[in-house]
Amino acid sequence: MCQNQRDTLAELSESNFSIRMVLKIFIAITEMLHEIENGYYAAENIVQQLEANLLNDDLDSLEKCQLEKRLLEEQKVRDELFHMKNFADTFNLSMNSFLINATVFLMYVNRWFYKLLHFFTRKNNLLERWMMHIQQFDHGRADFFDNLAAKWDEISPAPSDDMIKKFLDRLNISTGNVVLDVGAGTGLLVPYLMKYDPAKVIAMDLSKKMLGRLADKFQTIYHTRLEILHNDVHCLDIPAESVDVAVCNSVFPHFGDKPKALAEMYRVLKTGGELSIHHFTGREKINSVHASLSHEIIRTDILDDMQTLVLLLQEIGFIIQETIDTEKEFFLLAIKP
Ligand SMILES: C[S@@+](CC[C@H](N)C(=O)[O-])C[C@H]1O[C@@H](n2cnc3c(N)ncnc32)[C@H](O)[C@@H]1O
Repeated sequence: MCQNQRDTLAELSESNFSIRMVLKIFIAITEMLHEIENGYYAAENIVQQLEANLLNDDLDSLEKCQLEKRLLEEQKVRDELFHMKNFADTFNLSMNSFLINATVFLMYVNRWFYKLLHFFTRKNNLLERWMMHIQQFDHGRADFFDNLAAKWDEISPAPSDDMIKKFLDRLNISTGNVVLDVGAGTGLLVPYLMKYDPAKVIAMDLSKKMLGRLADKFQTIYHTRLEILHNDVHCLDIPAESVDVAVCNSVFPHFGDKPKALAEMYRVLKTGGELSIHHFTGREKINSVHASLSHEIIRTDILDDMQTLVLLLQEIGFIIQETIDTEKEFFLLAIKP
């Protein structure tokens, strides 16, 4: 019965002192219980033997008397051993159930330990993401656009309906799609995007005040089909692989870390999803307007030439579908393979 424990003991190195001690005690107790059990069966045998001898008719009265005396003594020993055996059996059972309970308990502890570990790792990830939100949020540009929000619709030259439709028709927005309007501003594209009957348009922007204007104009019209998200493109609160089409209109030059912004948009796009980078005017005009601004950060918001941009997107993993680089329009369409 103890062979397993003995084998384990033999295998354990000297360094496992505590486990060796526990096993040694366990073996000693088990051996002692065995001795008691064997003693009881031996005593029972003797008693049975004596009882058989007593039935012999050849015995004289003295021999019979001595035998009866011996039988009484042996029965006493047997009965004592019987009680000890009963105690040993109960003890053995308790020890076994203790070991089983201890194992079950340790398994529970183990499971809870991993649950806690999982919880803290998750919490750590959330904490990490929250820290990223704080560290990566572009307060400089957010303030700049916040200050312009109230008058944005009057000061920004609005493209014609036809220009907007022509641009959006080049994308493959289908019924039921999730469309992400990156840097949506006051929502220039929102009513046009809704015409494609998407499941949802996520209007995301860095500026709370721009989004406030957007909400005033469109929230009651589109209800839940319009999700307004105050985010920085460098750290999006959007699950991976959940967006069909991402649109960056008049916003790409403002991204402080372009590879990071592209990688984040790549993450949220579904396989086969589209990213478009677009301006309703040519690259040179955009760069000269930004360079003329008094705001220090915005002055450096330059739109790279098409070739540089194409390489950047390809490095992230995008496949380029179409490019237009004229005096009147800048357009790039890419797919996440
Ligand atoms: C020139 S406006 C364009 C707004 C809109 N797309 C349109 O076509 O009218 C640029 C917008 O991009 C937003 N923006 C700039 N940097 C951003 C960033 N890192 N993440 C999200 N939005 C950003 C600004 O807050 C601003 O509302």
